[in-house]
Amino acid sequence: MNFEKICVLGLGYIGLPTASTFATHGVQVIGVDVNQKIVETLRNGGLHIHEPGLRTVVAAALKSGKLHISTQPEVAEAFIIAVPTPFYHDRQGDHNGRPYKLADMRAVTSAAEAIVPVLRKGNLVVLESTSPPRTTSDLVAPILEKSGLKAGVDFHLAYSPERVLPGQILRELIENARVIGGVTPESAQAGADLYAIFVKGEIFQTDATTAEMVKLMENTYRDVNIAIANEFSRLAERFGVDVWEAIDLANRHPRVKILTPGPGVGGHCISVDPWFLVEKAPELTPLIYTSRQVNDSQPAFVLDLVKKAVGSLKGKKIAALGLAYKPDVDDLRESPAVEVVHLLQSEGAIVTAYEPFKPDAKLPGIRAVATLEEAVSEAQAILLLVQHTDLCKMSAAEYTGISPARIAIDTVNGWESEEWQKAGFQLFRLGVNK
Ligand SMILES: NC(=O)c1ccc[n+]([C@@H]2O[C@H](COP(=O)([O-])OP(=O)(O)OC[C@H]3O[C@@H](n4cnc5c(N)ncnc54)[C@H](O)[C@@H]3O)[C@@H](O)[C@H]2O)c1
Repeated sequence: MNFEKICVLGLGYIGLPTASTFATHGVQVIGVDVNQKIVETLRNGGLHIHEPGLRTVVAAALKSGKLHISTQPEVAEAFIIAVPTPFYHDRQGDHNGRPYKLADMRAVTSAAEAIVPVLRKGNLVVLESTSPPRTTSDLVAPILEKSGLKAGVDFHLAYSPERVLPGQILRELIENARVIGGVTPESAQAGADLYAIFVKGEIFQTDATTAEMVKLMENTYRDVNIAIANEFSRLAERFGVDVWEAIDLANRHPRVKILTPGPGVGGHCISVDPWFLVEKAPELTPLIYTSRQVNDSQPAFVLDLVKKAVGSLKGKKIAALGLAYKPDVDDLRESPAVEVVHLLQSEGAIVTAYEPFKPDAKLPGIRAVATLEEAVSEAQAILLLVQHTDLCKMSAAEYTGISPARIAIDTVNGWESEEWQKAGFQLFRLGVNK
């Protein structure tokens, strides 16, 4: 299939790089978002998200005249849905007394509904949003068929998971291997033709439900493995071990690759996607369920560590460094660092938070400041919650220059014990009791 004009619905971390990359490869792209503010920002040459290199690609796409930003999809040859699939915060399912989270598929539903009036015979629709198994065939297909056209017969329908790493999105979008699952082999082929416009990695074709499962299995695999690393950090504290040293030594085994512990698991993917499997088959997923619980309870483990370091939290001034869910990104969604700050405050600590990648972060109930100096200037303890390069590479001596604190707590193995002790700090490290 040939594609001259496509619509990309959802202009976030996934949709905007995808739309811009298609445009810079010569395809006419209508980038659609329901958020009027985002549409205006982009039309005025601004950018609402931080991703290295994205500004340049979006500017090139707009300048070439190939990328147009709109609030409504238009008639096109292909439609890509890249809208959010979070879970509900205000309701949950229950399986034998075990509560589980439920996928909020409202954005996928409304994006599919918006395509119905402009869907034409021979079109291709690709769902990229991470979704519970069978979403493409059981949720998206019936909505699109309200057009009177039949999925897999009159139009192609496929699912293609996105596996890019925030911070590396533009490179990985092109270089990563891609899986395309069609509701028919012809739909998978049409999807492969579309992505072949810019994808240099291998493109694998399969059915839509397998492609959905692939994405969920990848992220669930990581969640379960981080859960075991987090449990190892708890055991290391119990038994007088440095978990970082122990993991490093265990990983010298040729068939062992233990992941990294930390303050928990956050973000839009790994902390969310395993729930999509639990929701659809709670009786088959005790391991996945337990791993989610282990990772969700890791902020409480950090709280205990902070209490060990400073004693009672009542009135203690703590600088929390990093709020993002992982290093060197500005994404605060489902961040365990944010959860740690709330827990500290709930026990009376006075927390000043600083997120270098989002100095203007506004989070309900959290005092976030714009500079590191402001965050630490009155602190009694400094708490490192994210392994941001700049926060880690700054020396202990430099911290003493801007803060009266002499207690430091490191939850991400970002600071070197000897250096911090030499600079006069008492350093407490997650998973270390040595
Ligand atoms: N961010 C990642 O690294 C990543 C990686 C792999 C997969 N994913 C998946 O990709 C999907 C999108 O994630 P994201 O990070 O780009 O989300 P995002 O929140 O950054 O962007 C989504 C955009 O969609 C818009 N939107 C919501 N409803 C819409 C609708 N009906 N029509 C048009 N636009 C609509 C929102 O306004 C927003 O701008 C999710 O399912 C996510 O799980 C994300």
